[in-house]
Amino acid sequence: MVREWDPRTAPSVEIEAVLSSLNAAVAADLPDDPPWRIDSFREYLAVTMPGERRICWIAEAAPGATHRGEPLLGTANVLLLGEIGVIEVIVPPAARHQGIGRELLSAVANRAYAEGFTSLGVEAIGDTPAVGFYERYGFQCAFVEIRNILRLATVDWLNLGEMAAGVGSGYRIEYYPGGPPEELYEAYAEAKAAGRDSYEATDLELRPSSYDPDRLRSSLATLHARGMRPHIVVGLHEPSGKIAGLTEVVVAAQHPTRADQYDTVVVPAHRGYGLGRAIKARMLFELRSAEPRVTEVQTWNAFENEPLLKVNSELGFQPDRQWCEYDAEVADLVRRLEKDN
Ligand SMILES: CC(C)(COP(=O)(O)OP(=O)(O)OC[C@H]1O[C@@H](n2cnc3c(N)ncnc32)[C@H](O)[C@@H]1OP(=O)(O)O)[C@@H](O)C(=O)NCCC(=O)NCCS
Repeated sequence: MVREWDPRTAPSVEIEAVLSSLNAAVAADLPDDPPWRIDSFREYLAVTMPGERRICWIAEAAPGATHRGEPLLGTANVLLLGEIGVIEVIVPPAARHQGIGRELLSAVANRAYAEGFTSLGVEAIGDTPAVGFYERYGFQCAFVEIRNILRLATVDWLNLGEMAAGVGSGYRIEYYPGGPPEELYEAYAEAKAAGRDSYEATDLELRPSSYDPDRLRSSLATLHARGMRPHIVVGLHEPSGKIAGLTEVVVAAQHPTRADQYDTVVVPAHRGYGLGRAIKARMLFELRSAEPRVTEVQTWNAFENEPLLKVNSELGFQPDRQWCEYDAEVADLVRRLEKDN
């Protein structure tokens, strides 16, 4: 039985069941990933950027089964942003191949259709059942990225120190835990906009990036409210006072040992001076002291982003697996799911 579910008001036992279901899927599909923790997990599910909405569903064997301590059969959610909805469907291994994924996807698709959304996107992780599942329902791969992981235990800190210092004259590197200071918002947003093509992809739901100061402010507030702590390193171009490069890493309370790399941008006019390498190297030093629990950093890169791939491999990032963005037209999806019923 699938029912709509609100993480803001759900009893704790249901929040815990959603977490267990997620962790059972992680253990099966991404066995090297750390399990998620309950810390701020409700907020992670409940809080969105202003103007965005997340609608969630859970699948139970019978009404109230979760309250009797039975495991959930699956969860789904759609984040409605602007024109598109970004979805997630997770069925724990013990409940797979019984049509629950299809039922959850139908709930999402019907709701998106009723609300007038035209397309849905999803991140399907390579070498997991999600790829076959979404392709079965007509989703098409729009974009492929590689997840890369850096294990801090493998870092050559001496060499990294040289990278952090190896930047052309006229640049100063600064670290800001929690986010850039208010007076830099304008310059920061401007640098992000100027470096659009060189961004290091964050997950689908956190795009579009914060290209204006108000959106940046909301984005930082949303991260904090979801239990996610941003760390920022910027390269300041001293003669102009502009931000020439920036890199962002977020440490989530839900998986505090595995940090997430968000955007890395070097503004085109400042490329070729060692800035990308220096800001990313400096970030690792800062993380090591500010977040001692972090043992790994993960990042997602497009194949064609060669300069960033080169910097990442110099730092010691290792390719992990493909992450594929799929999308589907809602009307088409609803038709296919009905036919399959
Ligand atoms: C993808 C997922 C939602 C499918 O859930 P499910 O309940 O097993 O799917 P269903 O039983 O409804 O399957 C519906 C159809 O999808 C397709 N499908 C499902 N699993 C598949 C697989 N492993 N390979 C290929 N096709 C598959 C089949 O065509 C199936 O229909 P059929 O059984 O009549 O052949 C589930 O495997 C899942 O949660 N995976 C998580 C993946 C993930 O994101 N992991 C990483 C983060 S936790």
